[in-house]
Amino acid sequence: MMRPLRSGAGSHALVARWVTWQVATGLALALCACGDDNPGPAPAPAGEAGFCGDQGEAVERRIDALLSQMTLDEKIDQMHGSGGMVDGLWPTPDNMRLGIPGFRMVDGPRGVSAATGHATAFPVGMARGATWNPTLEARVGEAIAIETRAKGANVLLAPTMNVLRHPRWGRAQETYGEDPVHIGRLAVAFITGAQHHVVASAKHFALNSIEDTRNVVNVSVDERTLHEVYLPHFRLAVEQAYVGSVMSAYNKVNGHYCSENAQLLRDILKGTWAFRGFVESDWFSATRSTVPSAMAGLDIEMPWSLFYGAALLRAVQSGDLPEATIDESVRRILRVKLCFRLDTDPPQPDPAVIESPEHTQLALEVARQAIVLLKNDAGVLPLDRSRLRSLVVAGPLAAMANLGDEGSSLVVPSYAVPLLDGVRSRAGNVAVTYLDTYSLTPSDLARIAVTDAAIVVAGFTKADEGEDHDRSRLDLSADQEQLILDVAAANPQTIVVLEGGSAIGMERWIDRVKAVLMAWYPGQEGGHAIAEVLFGDINPSGRLPITFARSDADLPPFDNRSREVVYDYYHGYRYVDRLGIEPRFPFGFGLSYTTFRYNALAVADTVLPPDGTQTITVQLTNTGARMGDETVQLYVSALGSAVDRAPRDLKNFARIHLEPGGTMTVRFELPIKDLAYYDVASHTWLVEATTYAVFVGPHTRELPLSTTFRVAVP
Ligand code: BGC
Repeated sequence: MMRPLRSGAGSHALVARWVTWQVATGLALALCACGDDNPGPAPAPAGEAGFCGDQGEAVERRIDALLSQMTLDEKIDQMHGSGGMVDGLWPTPDNMRLGIPGFRMVDGPRGVSAATGHATAFPVGMARGATWNPTLEARVGEAIAIETRAKGANVLLAPTMNVLRHPRWGRAQETYGEDPVHIGRLAVAFITGAQHHVVASAKHFALNSIEDTRNVVNVSVDERTLHEVYLPHFRLAVEQAYVGSVMSAYNKVNGHYCSENAQLLRDILKGTWAFRGFVESDWFSATRSTVPSAMAGLDIEMPWSLFYGAALLRAVQSGDLPEATIDESVRRILRVKLCFRLDTDPPQPDPAVIESPEHTQLALEVARQAIVLLKNDAGVLPLDRSRLRSLVVAGPLAAMANLGDEGSSLVVPSYAVPLLDGVRSRAGNVAVTYLDTYSLTPSDLARIAVTDAAIVVAGFTKADEGEDHDRSRLDLSADQEQLILDVAAANPQTIVVLEGGSAIGMERWIDRVKAVLMAWYPGQEGGHAIAEVLFGDINPSGRLPITFARSDADLPPFDNRSREVVYDYYHGYRYVDRLGIEPRFPFGFGLSYTTFRYNALAVADTVLPPDGTQTITVQLTNTGARMGDETVQLYVSALGSAVDRAPRDLKNFARIHLEPGGTMTVRFELPIKDLAYYDVASHTWLVEATTYAVFVGPHTRELPLSTTFRVAVP
């Protein structure tokens, strides 16, 4: 097993630099110009050892020595892919003369790419977002990385961590959700886990959330939205997880392709955030130029050398590009290779760890924690095996393992458990009848009418959504909706299990059914996990990582035809909160078979300086008869702010396990700098001296406890 140098001792100090104070408005708001050191709204576990542990200086000396021996050709060879895929991996050239290994890159976000053969298929990123469980996500990152190494690769092209702006984005399933704090926490966990074994790659930098036009679309975004909504989680990946590589996106941002976007790559990522690793382009058409890309900070063209091979050499020889720019990129590439010991501890093929019992068990555990119970009228769930005699399962999706899209994130396990198999294996003496159709006959309906309960499985598949194709609608297909309505008309105990990568519209049928479960694309063990939840062997504990709107009309526009789109400040829960729209299911929502009570919210300080840290405590009690997990969510509002702010912003969360009757005091540390907004006039983060309201509860529309505190200049 690789022991990266970076896991040794050492620390990365994030020191807030409070530059100036000023009285800004008639409300006497004192502003802190937090400058470049403000990490944005970002409570997250500390990274372990800085980019290269305590070996940083030694590594830089080795890089100096290597650079002095390398020819210009050899340097440029470090900066592009080798061409095609080899054994399912994307290589960059080795330098045999100097003993510098090339990279061997492989996807991806839900397991190791199918191009390498079988691997554990984990629930997709969106499902893992629904666990709200960074500890579990760190284990997923580590497991995927162990399989990555065992396949001979040293760079894992994951996690996908773009903000979901609209649920019809084809790759919604790959990312974690709609909120930068939530995405950031999970991505930091994944990267930290993965980088015990391989180099991770945070992708796609940035504002990549449309598929149909991804190669051409220009996303215009104002500076505040960029910094507050679309970048904070990438910043966490750099500053807290020390991610080794960042993949630039296909699209343009503010008129420049991301692979040649100097503001994103050079100024923000490498400048302000002091990213120490390398940037590789997204694949195929993502690199668009030679000199502008190199000058902007693109270090590696993948997967070939259309712009970075001979053309890069000519650019240096003709004086169009300083060799120092090449040296800077090669230094970054070598730094990653040496810090991660790719030269001395290469990956060893090891089939034994692929789909190991530990990894498939982890896939099961994640699927269990990801399933969200959205509706459960009259306690129809859990199904009681001891009282039920018969059950109908309906819908073609029930018999298929629905694992997600077929793009670069495709993973093919050696087995996968469809819902139907899971239900049959858990049903005990209950007779299970399967109806594999959308068009029920009168005899099907008669049979449904006399069974004790009916489960309809519906949703989306790789044919509907994925890389390269956005989903065409929010709602289910007409035949699936009809199936639900027909089954519900025949049997009052109808339960709908939904699969898919993001939100699904339910307005035409939700009032007719008793229960709804959102299972996402639940991975190879998904059928078991869903059945365990249905029969109550597992208490559902997933919470929505995105808003489920009632219709397209309640969402920001999604234009996947135009070459020009504008991303403004509002989407997701901030959008519906601001416009007073009632979502079908709010961000953070999810039911349980037990109940919880929130109590005794308290802040440690009523007044704090802008460089302080607030301690917030709340008591959570399991008031039901079953053990269960609750995700306690902390939101903050800036009252009387000088700028337009969302009604509430998520600042922290904690997934808590409690036995029946159990109580726990949950404690959050809230650095006041996380309340800053990005001031476009000064290009700095500013903390307003004003009153902040703190809300705690189970989701954005149920926040039973609140209190306030003030931030003031001492
Ligand atoms: C995708 C990336 C992926 C790469 C390599 C691209 O098309 O956008 O996410 O890592 O292919 O497979």
